[in-house]
Amino acid sequence: MKIAVLPGDGIGPEVTREALKVLDALALPQLTLFEGDVGGIAYKRHGHPLPAETLEMARAADAVLFGAVGDPECDTLPREHRPEQAILGLRSELGLFANLRPAAGFPGLEDLSPLKPELARGIDLLVVRELNGDVYFGDKGERDSAGGREGWDDMSYNEAEVRRIAHSAFRAAQKRRKKLTSVDKANVLETSRIWRETVIELAGEYPDVELDHMYVDNAAMQLVRSPGQFDVIVTGNLFGDILSDQASACVGSIGLLASASLGERTTEFGTFGLYEPIHGSAPDIAGQGKANPVAAILSLAMLLRHSLGRDADANRIERAVAASLSSEVRGADLGGSASTQEIGDAIVRHLQAT
Ligand code: NAI
Ligand code: MG
Repeated sequence: MKIAVLPGDGIGPEVTREALKVLDALALPQLTLFEGDVGGIAYKRHGHPLPAETLEMARAADAVLFGAVGDPECDTLPREHRPEQAILGLRSELGLFANLRPAAGFPGLEDLSPLKPELARGIDLLVVRELNGDVYFGDKGERDSAGGREGWDDMSYNEAEVRRIAHSAFRAAQKRRKKLTSVDKANVLETSRIWRETVIELAGEYPDVELDHMYVDNAAMQLVRSPGQFDVIVTGNLFGDILSDQASACVGSIGLLASASLGERTTEFGTFGLYEPIHGSAPDIAGQGKANPVAAILSLAMLLRHSLGRDADANRIERAVAASLSSEVRGADLGGSASTQEIGDAIVRHLQAT
């Protein structure tokens, strides 16, 4: 089992260190870790945010554990040299088209949610966002118009692209509460009409999953009015970007939420994937021991489950995190005073106690 570890910038290395501590505590046999530079640190050392050797290391591994990229000192660089290009490059080079973002309320943390506690408690959903298509990757440009300069971006999805993300979502739903909500804007967008028709065609292959459809504007409203109705949500890149941030905000701190980006490549043990917290490099708190490592540790749990076929270890980590949070070892983002390292240590203690 090979894991490429790419800590990156800012709090990336701080939270990744704690995730590695948890991995170490599991004492898995035959595990090899490789560490590579990515983001601003890679630009400073190698002249590129995603050096060829880092990409090769990621390709050769069964999974990638990613921290975060982003460095204010790189803000004035041309776009191709900016740290953020590294994560976009990894997703497209590695064919990672399915972004899985679970959002679930943590017992005892309902007060952190902007929602009423009884609503926050009911959140247990997974957003499956398409990551390689849509308006982000279509033709785009600037042209003259009667109203002055006009920007344009092509939105498109073909059936093959919809099919592969829909398969991922149906399969994810089969492993959960077997309910899938496909989110689109089929009343006005051709892209969405093809999307919806294609998802419906696939539904016959998954008779055990209950499928429904929702327009994106309604989905945004339902997420705050009654989030408990959702199990798995599948949607395109743009709608998924917005809805997944919204769903995670409903849970509470950004320091708690993990993500997986998966493609079609399988490994000896599962599906190849890249795992990262949903937060960025948080330069405002970097180097101060204030970062919450829970998102990174839960990303490790997702890695063990999806890429290494180690469900039991993933469950153990998730239980240890829940136990640690309810024992009130909490960082500043949750109104506590525990440091990054203290939170990691507490989770390791809970892990060893189970
Ligand atoms: P951010 O997620 O880094 O920070 C937003 C706010 O949340 C900050 O106040 C930060 O202190 C706090 N925060 C984030 N993670 C936390 C944690 N684990 N514990 C406690 N507090 C935490 O987003 P921001 O500020 O918009 O971006 C900073 C840099 O990160 C930028 O360069 C941005 O491009 C990059 N970024 C990178 C991502 C990635 O690597 N996938 C994703 C999002 C942003
Ligand atoms: Mg976003």
